[in-house]
Amino acid sequence: MTYTGIFDTHAHYDDECFDEDRFELLDEMLASNVSGIINCGCTVESSKTSIAFAEEYPQMYAAVGIHPQNAAEESEDALEKIEELAKHEKVVAIGEIGLDYHYDYTPKEMQIEYFEKQILLAKKLNLPVIVHDREAHQDCVETLLKYKPRGVMHCFSGSVETAKQLTDIGFYIGLGGSVTFKNAKKPAEVAASIDLDRLLLETDCPYMTPVPFRGIRNNSSLIIHTAEKIAELRGIKAQEVIDKARENAYKLFNIK
Ligand code: NI
Repeated sequence: MTYTGIFDTHAHYDDECFDEDRFELLDEMLASNVSGIINCGCTVESSKTSIAFAEEYPQMYAAVGIHPQNAAEESEDALEKIEELAKHEKVVAIGEIGLDYHYDYTPKEMQIEYFEKQILLAKKLNLPVIVHDREAHQDCVETLLKYKPRGVMHCFSGSVETAKQLTDIGFYIGLGGSVTFKNAKKPAEVAASIDLDRLLLETDCPYMTPVPFRGIRNNSSLIIHTAEKIAELRGIKAQEVIDKARENAYKLFNIK
């Protein structure tokens, strides 16, 4: 099957994995089945690179933000720099921001401080947030329920109940390659049950490559395998999943 109109809401084409063929790959995908990509910053530098991509390609957009694991290594004025960058016309979100308790490069307290400050920045600039949550479900959801920003929980790995708490406050759920993993039950359960109006598709490339390409570098056109899995779980067509997710992305990120 060939599909059209894939919108990848979470990519990292600044990653060194793409150094050898980045622009050939982007040219090729954006000329065929991929209609849009949001490149997400994790540091001030990668936020700037995301903007540079968005300036180069009409179909690319940037999210700017400090990832929880990068907060400790950034300079003290990093958030002021992010605020300046966020005013660029191709910036559609503050992200990726959030909490990550898997590693401890940045202490918990500092992660929470950066998360809260960037949520408030997003609200001030009327932008949505792109949230990363790894092994921090409770604190992450509590913070979101407290501030109620607009946004998406990227690479969602929580339960159906947690997804419901988030969609009840209007949040979107980002699903990627993990819905195709045999050992990951929860993402598939969420994919089967959430309101289609709340679904976004993403890669998190170069990571999270869907089955049957697990183990190789991910890219936006491989979203078709995630869409096919979600379609199978819901008994609908994959193109319908792709189209609905793209419309949802346009709405959340205010893309015309
Ligand atoms: Ni990411």
